[in-house]
Amino acid sequence: MSGWVQIVGIGPGDDALVTPQVQAALAEATDAVGYIPYVERVAQNPNLTLHPSDNRVEIDRSQHALEMASEGKRVVVVSSGDPGVFAMAAAVFEAVEHGKPEWRNLDIRVLPGITAMLAASAACGAPLGHDFCAINLSDNLKPWALIEKRLRLAAEADFAMAFYNPRSKSRPEGFEKALETLKAACGDNRPMIFARNVSRPDQTIKIVPLQETTPDMADMRTVVLLGSSQTRIIEREGAPMVYTPRSVAS
Ligand SMILES: C[S@@+](CC[C@H](N)C(=O)[O-])C[C@H]1O[C@@H](n2cnc3c(N)ncnc32)[C@H](O)[C@@H]1O
Repeated sequence: MSGWVQIVGIGPGDDALVTPQVQAALAEATDAVGYIPYVERVAQNPNLTLHPSDNRVEIDRSQHALEMASEGKRVVVVSSGDPGVFAMAAAVFEAVEHGKPEWRNLDIRVLPGITAMLAASAACGAPLGHDFCAINLSDNLKPWALIEKRLRLAAEADFAMAFYNPRSKSRPEGFEKALETLKAACGDNRPMIFARNVSRPDQTIKIVPLQETTPDMADMRTVVLLGSSQTRIIEREGAPMVYTPRSVAS
């Protein structure tokens, strides 16, 4: 039996947002590795051995997956959302680059999923309808000075922005600093969207003018979107719709 590794994205939460391609990989796999809450989302199957692991062991987990595939197992590496967005796909390739030479010849595939920012954008309209960028606000894997520089330059270039990992218990001050930087760099009251537990039964979407935002509005279950200077709000009964027009006047 020849082994493989498929790095799969299981979407933001709703089972209906797991692609048929990912469902097929999960059905064929012998082993699933991933962060505990993501592996918990994989349906139990008598032919599938689950290997949940802690948050900060991405390279160990990747090596384990590659080793099992070398032994002939069919291994899924599970990420929430899309595996290429601040998730396991890059970690597996890092392990391949620096690992055993024979790992390079394994059958390794990345199966995309719906990332949080796209599910959040869809839930409130189309705030990412023009040019945008995505920034991970955690400084666990990069210096804070680089995050701040990217925020300033993204504001200067007038991108809409999506922020992942905005605020955790171990980094309570980072999002406060990010908001200060954005308020000063943007200088206006464009909408910021706090999308929490998107696509889950307890989903909440809050649209707040940038200058009125406060750090406690986000946690690690929130993806935060910020409009560009062109982003518009359509008021109506119930929740408003937010969109960024497809064109910018020359
Ligand atoms: C380590 S990143 C993983 C991102 C994931 N690979 C993706 O494509 O969505 C974790 C962050 O994604 C965001 N996130 C993931 N799922 C979410 C959801 N259902 N609702 C809101 N934010 C979510 C949060 O910002 C969270 O802190």
